[in-house]
Amino acid sequence: MAPMKVGIIGLGYVGLPLAVAFAEEGHEVVGLDADGRKVEALREGRSYIEDVPTETISSVGDRLVATTSYEDLAACEAVLICVPTPLTQSREPDLTYLVDSATSLSAVLVPEQLVVLESTTYPGTTRERLRPILEESGLAAGRDFHLAFSPERIDPGRTDYTIRTTPKIVGGLTEACTERARELYAAICDEVVTVSGPEAAELAKLLENIFRSVNIALMNELAMLCDRLDIDIWEVIDAAATKPFGFMRFDPGPGMGGHCLPVDPFYLAYKAREHDFYTEFIELAGKINQNQPHFCVQRMEHSLNEVSKPMRGSRILLLGVSYKAGVGDMRESPALKIMRLAREMGADVVYHDPHVPELPDLGLSSVELADELAGCDLACVVTAHPEVDYERVVAEAPLVLDFRGVTRGIEAKNLVRL
Ligand SMILES: NC(=O)c1ccc[n+]([C@@H]2O[C@H](COP(=O)([O-])OP(=O)(O)OC[C@H]3O[C@@H](n4cnc5c(N)ncnc54)[C@H](O)[C@@H]3O)[C@@H](O)[C@H]2O)c1
Repeated sequence: MAPMKVGIIGLGYVGLPLAVAFAEEGHEVVGLDADGRKVEALREGRSYIEDVPTETISSVGDRLVATTSYEDLAACEAVLICVPTPLTQSREPDLTYLVDSATSLSAVLVPEQLVVLESTTYPGTTRERLRPILEESGLAAGRDFHLAFSPERIDPGRTDYTIRTTPKIVGGLTEACTERARELYAAICDEVVTVSGPEAAELAKLLENIFRSVNIALMNELAMLCDRLDIDIWEVIDAAATKPFGFMRFDPGPGMGGHCLPVDPFYLAYKAREHDFYTEFIELAGKINQNQPHFCVQRMEHSLNEVSKPMRGSRILLLGVSYKAGVGDMRESPALKIMRLAREMGADVVYHDPHVPELPDLGLSSVELADELAGCDLACVVTAHPEVDYERVVAEAPLVLDFRGVTRGIEAKNLVRL
């Protein structure tokens, strides 16, 4: 394929790996971010995303040019928008970043360009929100420029599937838009799946995340029931997972974190309400998953009670505070809620996390296991980072509470599992 010039707006967890993927295939990439520090880091050849090694940034060299200026996008054949789509305080879609970036892009949009939205959002965003802003340029979508939606499926920390080996969904405003987007992504993905329009692509992404959220909630609810019934939930799930068909494994845990699962389902719930429809599965799953840190703190209290200790004054060591194993991403991490609740009850909370050296907002730094294991009253596995030796944790800490099932196979009197 002839080298293309691709613009990427928003160089975060999604945009930077995508920029690198195009650059590694020999295409020229203009990476734009409103955050001057990120642009500076890339200009100095430094990465700030765990999944993108600094050597990769230097190896693509001049093929990735970082900028804060939208004018630099005018020379690009395609521009991909990867800005955040969070929730407002009242848990409604916050499209400010999208609106701001689209407004800046419309001022430099040129005929024949392809614009693709990658940010997760509710069905209708590309057509109803993005299109009118881009058309303020005086150009018409589907006629003068191409417009499509293609959801990002990146899973930070995952190495078994890459951008190349994960099929990419695209849905354009017109057939020609879809075809342009298909050609673009064929440069970096082995398989591109086309759908009838942006709405199907937008909803497909939400379905993927809602599917996970609902199934995790089901496991969390069963974990609470198993606690009452005195049955080991992990043994039950391990047994059910031996069925070779009709069952897909999901695990309970301390609650949901990250940028996607706690946020994205509410984008659909919002859209549904506009159409006088109430998405009960989404709301129920959200309610159960958000309650899970409270349940975990109850378990902490109960476990300490069993050894005649109160929460107040007990030293509690949390093992792993990022939202998932193997990464340092703290966004919406349930560990933060667990820490806050435990502190409110008077516990002296410390943490160990090889991926999160500091939590400045809480005035804490990651402690050494050797210093803390024997001295704490309770060690809780909140996020099961692979670097931690859990056999040692059980051997050295006086009491261990495992919210991740990572100690399955270890039997010890001082060990309790979710
Ligand atoms: N992180 C994930 O694992 C993941 C996976 C799939 C989809 N998504 C979706 O992708 C989108 C981006 O997520 P992310 O995790 O990469 O976010 P992020 O916060 O890591 O990165 C977004 C970047 O956009 C920049 N930005 C914000 N407004 C801008 C503007 N007006 N102009 C230029 N740059 C601007 C920010 O400075 C930031 O660097 C979201 O919609 C998210 O839901 C994320």
